[in-house]
Amino acid sequence: MRVVCLPRELREASTQAARAGLRVGLVPTMGFLHAGHLALVKEARARADVVVMSVFVNPLQFGPAEDFAAYPRDLERDRGLAEASGVDVLWVPTVEAMYPDGPAVTVSPGPVGSILEGAVRPGHFAGVLTVVLKLFAAAAPAVAVFGRKDAQQAALVRFMIRDFNLPVELIVAPTVRDADGLALSSRNVHLDVAGRRRALALPRALAGGVEVFRSGERRAGSIVAAAAAVLATEAGLTSDYVACVNPDTFLPSDAATDTTTLAVAARVGATRLIDNVVLGAGLDADVRIGD
Ligand code: PAJ
Repeated sequence: MRVVCLPRELREASTQAARAGLRVGLVPTMGFLHAGHLALVKEARARADVVVMSVFVNPLQFGPAEDFAAYPRDLERDRGLAEASGVDVLWVPTVEAMYPDGPAVTVSPGPVGSILEGAVRPGHFAGVLTVVLKLFAAAAPAVAVFGRKDAQQAALVRFMIRDFNLPVELIVAPTVRDADGLALSSRNVHLDVAGRRRALALPRALAGGVEVFRSGERRAGSIVAAAAAVLATEAGLTSDYVACVNPDTFLPSDAATDTTTLAVAARVGATRLIDNVVLGAGLDADVRIGD
């Protein structure tokens, strides 16, 4: 595995790959890798000849009061995990290399960028799309793999690829969960034992919504209410949002179908967690560690 730092070095590597007729697969991450990230590598490996993983905690997508400084980092561990999982090129840019002059131009995410996650985290998706566009420019991937765990992010990347005619195939991989159902997240490291127990209310809330959907309920309001009730009664959690969204537009929908995404965000102490499920598929469609 090669480790590169400068965008120029990565561009050289991707140009070389293109000359040799090889397809590049890109897995963008902020590091502190877990099995969810490594599952994306596996997807990329299956579709590309050269797998590039980026590890970059992108300051542009964190608000001033958010956890940029406290975001977990462990490059040595990441390097070992990336290599063992079959990454060919690990790209670890510095903030200075990525934003030498601070960005003058950023990507505007449009209406979906300011609802749900975007409403709670103003500017977040502009930061995400800007860095993803820069990652695409340097890695020139034929295919890029994102996780459905961040469903709104994946939808916005899909919109950007479409609207800017980017020659990138987008793969959205299923959410990887721990044996107890909690979606893997780098931020889970901040949860203590009690916090982790409370955090399980997120997947339970999603399961509650799915159950109501399976019983025949199609009104989004009732499905959302069932999920929110689980968060409140089981763990005393107030959500930032619970919503049913249309998978194509990522806008809230009133009538639920098999493909509707039920998305939740809640704070467990100081740790903010998000999760979602496709109503018709249920949590069983996700990957469970230990299965
Ligand atoms: P990060 O949170 O590190 O996630 C990197 C990728 O891993 C994203 O595509 C995310 O959806 C996916 N992922 C995270 N947890 C997952 C899980 N439990 N199962 C499956 N996939 C999972 O998302 C970001 O970083 C950043 O916003 C980034 C896209 C890198 C831009 O900075």
